[in-house]
Amino acid sequence: MKVGFVQMEPKLLNLNANLSKAEKLIKEAANQGAKLIVLPELFDTGYNFEAKEEVEEIAQQIPDGETTQFLVEQAREHEAFIVAGTAEKDERGRLYNSAVIVGPIGQGYIGKYRKIHLFYREKLFFEPGNLGFHVFNIGMAKVGIMICFDWFFPESMRTLALKGADIVAHPANLVLPYAPRAMPIRSLENRVFSITANRIGEERGLRFIGMSQINSPRAEILLRASEDKEEVGVVEINIEEARNKRLNEFNDIFKDRRPEHYSL
Ligand code: ACM
Repeated sequence: MKVGFVQMEPKLLNLNANLSKAEKLIKEAANQGAKLIVLPELFDTGYNFEAKEEVEEIAQQIPDGETTQFLVEQAREHEAFIVAGTAEKDERGRLYNSAVIVGPIGQGYIGKYRKIHLFYREKLFFEPGNLGFHVFNIGMAKVGIMICFDWFFPESMRTLALKGADIVAHPANLVLPYAPRAMPIRSLENRVFSITANRIGEERGLRFIGMSQINSPRAEILLRASEDKEEVGVVEINIEEARNKRLNEFNDIFKDRRPEHYSL
């Protein structure tokens, strides 16, 4: 199975420009054979908002809003599954830093995740996620979703892995330098693949680090993007590697857990 990321530079508060840019890059990833394509956090809106009103104006409902409908159409056209970060406004006007998963014909909109660990000034704009961590079975793989700063909390990826994820899709707008080094270890300790789709560029003085990455359950960096270019990355993975939690004939990293000793 081929999986990929889209690394792009969203334009702040410019939905049309961002959908057009994403359309071009999704096509590039699909042309390279990717059947699961991950886009960055807030790929449709940009990130560094100044006021809540800016988010209110551009955020959309899921799945009826333009962004999710665009993604459904892309998934249908390219016969691929897509995970992408988007600003969500629910029916009562509450804002979430969300991600959606969509699939080809017969699937369409599959589900969403609302970012649980909000980073820095996101707390001024978004409600903390309230849907928990979910794993979506897309047939060829089980895909868990977390967003950017969620990686800093090992419980996020552990929960997804314990719920059966083979792949963790990780839309991101990384500004701190650590995730490209940490994510291979997150993949190792949970024996899952991970796909971090990051953004590049600078917004109102905030710089994003690029280096989107695909990591294997053995902590290998299968692919790493540049720090400053829009690009796609596609790589072939063998899902079975994520389903075998055995390290050797004595150790199975899930069966060997001792949760009775982990309570505080
Ligand atoms: C982040 O969570 N966007 C750093």
